[in-house]
Amino acid sequence: MVTTNLTSMLPDIKEVVNLFGNEKDFNIEHFFNESDTHYLHSVTVSPLTVSSNATKNEYLYEFDKVKYSDPLEVKRVLKRYSKLSVYKALVQTTKEEKPWGALTGIRPTKLAYTQLEKTGDFKNFFSSVMGVSEDKIKLVESILSSQKGIYNTDSDNADFFAEIPFCPTRCSYCSFITADMRKTAKLIPDYVTALEKEIKNAKSLVKKLRSVYIGGGTPVSLELKDLERVLKAIDYSGVEYTVEAGRPDCINEDNLKLLKDYGVTRICVNPQTFNDKTLVKIGRNHTAKDIFTKFELAKKFGFDINMDFIAGLPDENFLDFKNSIDTAISLNPENITVHTLCLKKGSELKEVSERLSAGEVPKMVEYAHAVLQNSDYNPYYMYRQKYTAGNLENTGYALKGKECVYNIDIMEEISSNIACGAHAVSKVVINGGERIERYASPKDIVTFINKVDEIIRAKKELFEKELKF
Ligand SMILES: C[S@@+](CC[C@H](N)C(=O)[O-])C[C@H]1O[C@@H](n2cnc3c(N)ncnc32)[C@H](O)[C@@H]1O
Ligand code: SF4
Repeated sequence: MVTTNLTSMLPDIKEVVNLFGNEKDFNIEHFFNESDTHYLHSVTVSPLTVSSNATKNEYLYEFDKVKYSDPLEVKRVLKRYSKLSVYKALVQTTKEEKPWGALTGIRPTKLAYTQLEKTGDFKNFFSSVMGVSEDKIKLVESILSSQKGIYNTDSDNADFFAEIPFCPTRCSYCSFITADMRKTAKLIPDYVTALEKEIKNAKSLVKKLRSVYIGGGTPVSLELKDLERVLKAIDYSGVEYTVEAGRPDCINEDNLKLLKDYGVTRICVNPQTFNDKTLVKIGRNHTAKDIFTKFELAKKFGFDINMDFIAGLPDENFLDFKNSIDTAISLNPENITVHTLCLKKGSELKEVSERLSAGEVPKMVEYAHAVLQNSDYNPYYMYRQKYTAGNLENTGYALKGKECVYNIDIMEEISSNIACGAHAVSKVVINGGERIERYASPKDIVTFINKVDEIIRAKKELFEKELKF
């Protein structure tokens, strides 16, 4: 027997441990024993601070070695089983099951498609191998069903993205890299010039355009003349075209008219909550009444509308959240997206995370799922982030026929993404996702402006090499 310590698996194992709290809460020892025919993974978890009732537990996982001949597959399987054995030992220790089991990846539906392709079934793998709950398996199933007819792995497909990383002020919970315009306004003209140049050059990399998305940040926080420069450079029409207009305090008749004139079809008007007290607490410079007014205005222009919400906002209880979702449904937007609060480093809320009512978050997410489905909104895409309240997911719901192609393509990674701007990540998706090559632009706005020529060149080289223009 060969015994191997699992240092190379540590980052993956830490991700599983983090589902249960902090890695400092547990002492974990694990070993692989390898015989001619089997691998045996043994894990011992000793709780340090988590709960005085928790006890030391050992978990053994044995699996047939002979079944796996490809060394890459062996590596994948070892990783999977080591995560699962740590997960099972932690469940025994803490007496807590997690909704997504030992699954830590951000794209469960993508994994489901891979399993379906390999074995014709994903449910058995999700349930017996990864320990995913019945409810989450059903959620994945519903999403795959909503994606029928849109999910398309044609290698020529591409989506086009432009990033506007500015906001009028920063919301306290925000985990995105975006700059407070009160401090960075002087960078905007140079940023727009660099972005315009990158967009014009990147258009030649598109083979078959599926959708366009201007994200942020808050794109409509730009002055009209700057926003128009970006729209003019993009100059696409006749496809799904989304602008994450976002904060109601930045939406007005003039910028909506401009978006309409340039072919935009879908915008986001994001409440996050309809509770005025919470809106003040999270620093959103707008009231619930402003959300209604801007929603009605956007409807007059004929846009499809998405509304974002967050479950787990500070001091919100189940009834606050329920009221927000019920109010959204009464407005009947085409899409409603339910996020679970994610506490990331850099978010001002990290320090007060203990005060958050994580216990109510699963109930909020369950309620949203049930009431939205009863009101003809079907889940159509989903992703997970690390450090989310209750280890839950973010799910987009849509009225039938109103699913956002861009969101599906980006989450399932089935179409190339030509992404422009600071912090944008372009992807070349080869053979429907068999292989993906990425190019990440610098996060820092000044570095992006200074290096834009280099970025244009590098991206072009990557796309031309991989897609053989
Ligand atoms: C990139 S942001 C842009 C949206 C736009 N600027 C706005 O605030 O309306 C997209 C969405 O991510 C969600 N979000 C941001 N930070 C989050 C966090 N820490 N946890 C959960 N969701 C978050 C919000 O619902 C937000 O509308
Ligand atoms: S939530 Fe939206 S408006 Fe608020 S800081 Fe983040 S990106 Fe900007």
